[in-house]
Amino acid sequence: MRIVVGVGGGIAAYKACSLVRKFTETGHHVRVIPTESALQFVGKATFEALSGNPVQTGVFADVPEVPHVRIGQEADLVVIAPATADLMARAASGRADDLLTATLLTARCPVLFAPAMHTEMWEHPATIANVATLRAHGSTVMEPASGRLTGADTGPGRLPEPEEIFALASLLLERSDALPRDLEGRRVVVSAGGTREPLDPVRFLGNRSSGKQGYAMARVAAQRGAQVTLIAGNTIGLEPPAAVEVVHVTTAEQMGTAVDKHSVGADAVIMAAAVADFRPANVAAAKIKKGAHEPNSIELTKNRDILAGLVQARRDGQLGGLAIVGFAAETGDEHGDVLTHARAKLARKGCDLLVVNAVGEGKAFEVDNNDGWLLGADGTEQSLDHGSKALLASRVLDALGPLLR
Ligand code: CTP
Repeated sequence: MRIVVGVGGGIAAYKACSLVRKFTETGHHVRVIPTESALQFVGKATFEALSGNPVQTGVFADVPEVPHVRIGQEADLVVIAPATADLMARAASGRADDLLTATLLTARCPVLFAPAMHTEMWEHPATIANVATLRAHGSTVMEPASGRLTGADTGPGRLPEPEEIFALASLLLERSDALPRDLEGRRVVVSAGGTREPLDPVRFLGNRSSGKQGYAMARVAAQRGAQVTLIAGNTIGLEPPAAVEVVHVTTAEQMGTAVDKHSVGADAVIMAAAVADFRPANVAAAKIKKGAHEPNSIELTKNRDILAGLVQARRDGQLGGLAIVGFAAETGDEHGDVLTHARAKLARKGCDLLVVNAVGEGKAFEVDNNDGWLLGADGTEQSLDHGSKALLASRVLDALGPLLR
């Protein structure tokens, strides 16, 4: 695919280098177009070396090639990172006073802006209006991350991490349309990762869930406008998604407490976490020693089913019209295939949607891609095509939207 990476003039311009690299490493043809001020932060040679293509900022180089029209027309995706307040203002008002803004006017492909600026600039009515205009024009403008900005201040306005911009960019290539803002004003709770049930201060019973699918759910929901709380169990060192509140937990019991607390007043709960069904009945206060005798068996006790508890609380009228999404990782066995087990699980659990993944043999766990089926309580069944975990998340949210009260 032909990707244009536009770079605005902000300190976060250095992060565009990793983004360019990710695109070239995954086989894309990348053309970097910085603004003049971006070159104050990162040199032209860096972008040329990383992209393998010439870099220019103005419209008067290579004139016979008409680059100010051609690059935009031929692009499959334009990603602006960092998108500064000034660059978004120019893009929103249709200026074409450099190669990047001219490219934005001629591009008909998906366009993704990854904003980076100080919180005051992000929250200024002028920027809010420009972001709304860009979205109305069909562009996807990411929510920035919160955290440390240049200097000592913190707040929303930080450039989302390159991995996150890459994930969203890949999603736009897969979907080939803008990300809808259909979850604005909605509160969504997502659980992710595996729980750990301690045996003693050093050992635990755990599972292979990486948290990647749940993180993708949280990320895409936030980028569709939802206010998202992510209840994260053990994950493989994932970066917290931009504009998402993360609550870290360890055990199933802690996860249950956190989910219960945050579901009050929420519009949807998405249980992507791999919650342990059992925990050791006794947790040793000191490390269990090997000793000289045969190993003891571990006595287990059942954990409560968080998802089933939510469904019950809704039935009892405590959670209003909360929409509830479950996940099922199935292998199939002598009693039935993956879908047979999944249909039974949907009926047993009583949730509104069940996302079903076939697991085992390198599928679903720890990898970046996923596929499966989406079963609805109304009997609908949809296959989820193979693609990034963000794409799967996006399809689930497409189905969730109409279920929200
Ligand atoms: N789940 C939960 N609480 C538990 C176990 C599971 O909320 N104690 C949720 C998971 O987050 C997931 C769904 O239930 O959304 C299905 O999980 P799964 O482990 O597949 O279901 P189980 O009911 O444990 O079924 P199985 O007999 O297949 O283990």
